[in-house]
Amino acid sequence: MAKPRVFSGIQPTGELHLGNYLGAIQNWVEIQSQFENFFCVVDLHAITVPHKPEMLAIDTHTVAALYLACGIDLEHSNIFVQSHVPAHTELAWLLNCITPLNWLQDMVQFKEKAIKQGENVGAGLLNYPVLMAADILLYDTDKVPVGEDQKQHLELARDIAARLNYLFGKEEAPVLKLPEPLIRTEGARVMSLTDGTKKMSKSDPSDLSRINLLDPPDQIQHKVKRCKTDSVRGLTFDNPERPECDNLLTLYMLLLGKTKEEVTAECADMGWGQFKPLLTEALINTLKPIQDKYHEITSEQNYLESVLRRGREKAEAIANPTLTRVKAALGYSIPV
Ligand code: TYM
Repeated sequence: MAKPRVFSGIQPTGELHLGNYLGAIQNWVEIQSQFENFFCVVDLHAITVPHKPEMLAIDTHTVAALYLACGIDLEHSNIFVQSHVPAHTELAWLLNCITPLNWLQDMVQFKEKAIKQGENVGAGLLNYPVLMAADILLYDTDKVPVGEDQKQHLELARDIAARLNYLFGKEEAPVLKLPEPLIRTEGARVMSLTDGTKKMSKSDPSDLSRINLLDPPDQIQHKVKRCKTDSVRGLTFDNPERPECDNLLTLYMLLLGKTKEEVTAECADMGWGQFKPLLTEALINTLKPIQDKYHEITSEQNYLESVLRRGREKAEAIANPTLTRVKAALGYSIPV
């Protein structure tokens, strides 16, 4: 029997950070053998905020290489670039035409980013979740492993699919499959190192707010030294007055694969001076093998290109028939 299908993606805007790893990629790696997987570098999404053309292709390759370095296994998974498969933009247009404007205006990420961009906010930012819905729906996806911040976009993807099925499908033969989110309980929301109430993000102007997957050991040490803490002795989870403490303990727990009970017992009487070197060590030990593998992959000429070419072929073999199915349902004449 065919395995259920997974689709997920990350934008190549700046370096990948620990939130992307713990919220998304680590989960992808853990579950990949149970599914047929498509992991996409969503470069079309990357230009919804101001971008540097000279960096786009470089960042796209870096993200693809990091997928491999983090343990994405080509035996179970395909890696490809969104803009290499034109069906994504074409389906996005079709879906745009059946999506009510107020569904998009209600998206929290749009509201947050629109405030930052002020009057210059682009239509791409508003339509961004429709492109994301197209990404997912093209592959008849069963599960979408993401961090907590993408939950609303996934609900929208389901709503758009249901609306298209209702308007243009038959009850016994829906045009599009409704995907399910797959969100971890721990690590789904990694917070900033400089403010435990904000999520760790590529767009935070301060690099001290995040640990990037390619940060060298001395930089990791510096960032942990400088990260925000408090003056309370004894480190505990789940205290709403101490968001930084909860975040740093959670990171430590996830990096070492320990249980909450083990970390609670270990850190109950610790001060920050004792804890920070332990966290630094856990970070360096987790990222070192990823960085070594990354350098190995990127030093091999043409390897990444061949991975992306194969990924594109596999992706197109599924995406193109879905697009044709949607166009037929909408009444388009299909070229023969
Ligand atoms: P992006 O590029 O912002 O983030 C990629 C993945 O990382 C997760 N993530 C986090 N998880 C925990 N803590 C954090 N601080 C944190 N920051 C980011 C995100 O939840 C996501 O899983 N719109 C998407 C990209 C996208 C996509 C898709 C995802 C486009 N098409 C189709 C899934 C399916 C985005 O901007 O993710």
